[in-house]
Amino acid sequence: MPDLIPVLTAEGVIKAMRELRMNQRVNFWAFYSSQLGGIVTDPALMLIAFDDHMVHRGHAVFDTAGLVDGKIYDLEAHLDRFIASAERARLALPGTREEMRKIIMETTIVAGHSDGAIRYWLSSGPGSLELSPAKGAKPGFFVMVFGGLIYPEHWYTEGMKVMTTTYPIKPKLYAITKTTNYLPNVLMQMEAKEQGLDNGVFLDADGNVGESSNMNVAFVTRDNVLRHPKFDHILSGCTSQRLLKLAPQLVSRGLIAGVEVSAIPADEARAAKEMLLIGSSIKVAPIVEWDRKPIGDGRPGPVAKALLELLEQDMTASERVVEPLIL
Ligand SMILES: Cc1ncc(COP(=O)(O)O)c(C=O)c1O
Repeated sequence: MPDLIPVLTAEGVIKAMRELRMNQRVNFWAFYSSQLGGIVTDPALMLIAFDDHMVHRGHAVFDTAGLVDGKIYDLEAHLDRFIASAERARLALPGTREEMRKIIMETTIVAGHSDGAIRYWLSSGPGSLELSPAKGAKPGFFVMVFGGLIYPEHWYTEGMKVMTTTYPIKPKLYAITKTTNYLPNVLMQMEAKEQGLDNGVFLDADGNVGESSNMNVAFVTRDNVLRHPKFDHILSGCTSQRLLKLAPQLVSRGLIAGVEVSAIPADEARAAKEMLLIGSSIKVAPIVEWDRKPIGDGRPGPVAKALLELLEQDMTASERVVEPLIL
């Protein structure tokens, strides 16, 4: 007969969570929870009520901003998108934008690290296992300051290899809303890794390029135009939006001939000179192979490099950079 499953005390739960974190190290530095009413720095205490509708129904949205050199990059753009996602998901905000910003900043200060990422979530709250929010449920607001997603250096020096995913792209409403339902994105990335590749790319039903798992995709055409898919059926990446504003600097330097946001048929995309992945975590990385065929000459191109430099400069020295302060 197997041993009976233990019925745990509060101390037993903490002990089990500490053991879990000992066996599986994480780089989580500080976590704010509206349910706890404070910030914790012990990963064993970074918990959420199981009946929160984020957990069992995916009724939640999130966003992530970068922490670079002790400063937060482009927080206002990420907050704009977070609030827009919350509205589309019909989630009540836990407070004002200023209150959320204050919590994000204080949690970042408590984390005490200068480089990483800040991810925050809004849920419809606990109180039932139903679909619609429980009566009287308070929205959950959670902030995690952590080490960020780390990608291999060779992605930047040698370039990445991607495949067209066999999984369908999300319908528009869900693609433009940053909800916690990332199942298609997860499956796409797993599929690519199983084939020895680095990531996948969604095409839409009309055969136009969509996006990647947690990154946007862009191209440099044969006639040197930086071309990005329209944002009506993919996430409006804060990094892409910012780079589209900065890229005209590359026109004056003669590196590109122009910038265009349009529907991009996959056939046209495959003929590009350069293909790029863009996002807060990856920044800008060159793709050198798509569906086992080379992009351009099969080597990282100059525009990917120049865009990465523009972004890195913007991340450290621009009006988009803010120092976390106790407000
Ligand atoms: C599906 C998806 N597309 C694109 C992006 C890139 O967005 P950002 O540049 O704001 O990180 C992300 C990351 O948030 C994403 O999850």
